[in-house]
Amino acid sequence: MKPEEVNLSVDFLGHKLRNPLALTEGPLTGSADRIRRASEFAIGVMFTKGIRPQPATSPNPFIAKSGKRNLMNADWSDIGFEQWLKDIKELRERDFMLVTSIAKNYVTPEEAADMAEEVAKCGPDAISLVDYDPDDLIRAVKLTRPRVKVPLMVKLCPFMPRLEETLKELVNSGIDAVAAMDSIGPVLVVDVETGLPSMGSGDGSGYLSGDAIRPVMVKYVYDIASYVDLPVVGVGGVSHGEDVVEVTMVGATAVGMVAAPLLRGLEEFDCVEKDLRRYLAAREINDINSIRKLTHQRVAEAEMREDARAVIDQDKCSNCGSCVKVCFMRAPVEMDGVTTIITEKCVGCGLCVSICPQNCIDMV
Ligand SMILES: Cc1cc2nc3c(=O)[nH]c(=O)nc-3n(C[C@H](O)[C@H](O)[C@H](O)COP(=O)(O)O)c2cc1C
Ligand code: SF4
Ligand code: SF4
Repeated sequence: MKPEEVNLSVDFLGHKLRNPLALTEGPLTGSADRIRRASEFAIGVMFTKGIRPQPATSPNPFIAKSGKRNLMNADWSDIGFEQWLKDIKELRERDFMLVTSIAKNYVTPEEAADMAEEVAKCGPDAISLVDYDPDDLIRAVKLTRPRVKVPLMVKLCPFMPRLEETLKELVNSGIDAVAAMDSIGPVLVVDVETGLPSMGSGDGSGYLSGDAIRPVMVKYVYDIASYVDLPVVGVGGVSHGEDVVEVTMVGATAVGMVAAPLLRGLEEFDCVEKDLRRYLAAREINDINSIRKLTHQRVAEAEMREDARAVIDQDKCSNCGSCVKVCFMRAPVEMDGVTTIITEKCVGCGLCVSICPQNCIDMV
């Protein structure tokens, strides 16, 4: 199958997106101009930066690379509610889906509902409320739902308490979709040459995005998709076509990125779209929608094993010694240029399987 034959189009809140990729809240969608610029790239849906009542100034510096593919931020910068209303109106003529995101965590549920009603008059395709407090979020949804006609969704912070119960209440209160998750924090990164934290905020702490947070998000999306039957936007540490496949397999309809395009440019969306097509075509998967929630199915089918042990395929082993080095049970041994595993010593932890450069260790 050719990559261009793969269907990447997904249905999201009544819109047919060109692909599942989302540019979620962040500086790249911080104004109408920036959103227009982003719309030139392979993005299915865009979320405005979190809209607050007043413009906020961020402490300098407020964005920094951390590790190879992670990002720290203390980004409060915002153009403020009045300017946002003008900017959203300016975007009325558009050929992309726009979700307006309200930073609920900075206002009361009553204020959030007032803001949502005003924003809805400017013509967004959906409204999202972002919060850390489950009770406040539920109350904000209950107050907002009767006052706006467009689809209403929520974006959750990492590790939302009482997740299942909260989600069910949110569904009963009328949400149409869920996004997870916001950056993880507060966290602290220190420059060991100077002792200074990387962010200019009061105590120098910030919020972590990028590669390191992806496994937290993947489990989160898996849980959300187990608890409720709504479209989910998975966002956190995505930067390859394979990541999009993973997040779709655990139940996402759309898959967001912020750190990756901030670090490597908006072209990252075009690269990930291409990469995703190539990955699926190589496996004869002609429609991204066909793999959604595959992981739930596999987990249900899988049997838990406690008797699996590692075995080396001698035809492929290069005798590199890596398994000998990592095995805390000292089960792999090398003798006369041949590496074998002493089955009685192996406890089947699986570490050697995951590090073998020849991919020649199996659990049997
Ligand atoms: C600089 C920066 C600013 C952000 N601002 C917001 C925001 O205003 N509202 C929000 O809900 N999330 C905000 N986020 C979180 C992102 O939308 C996203 O949920 C998070 O970064 C995880 O995705 P990533 O690993 O692809 O960056 C921001 C992230 C970054 C890096
Ligand atoms: S890590 Fe793999 S290739 Fe290397 S010695 Fe062990 S089995 Fe052989
Ligand atoms: S599975 Fe674990 S215990 Fe067994 S050989 Fe590999 S690393 Fe050692």
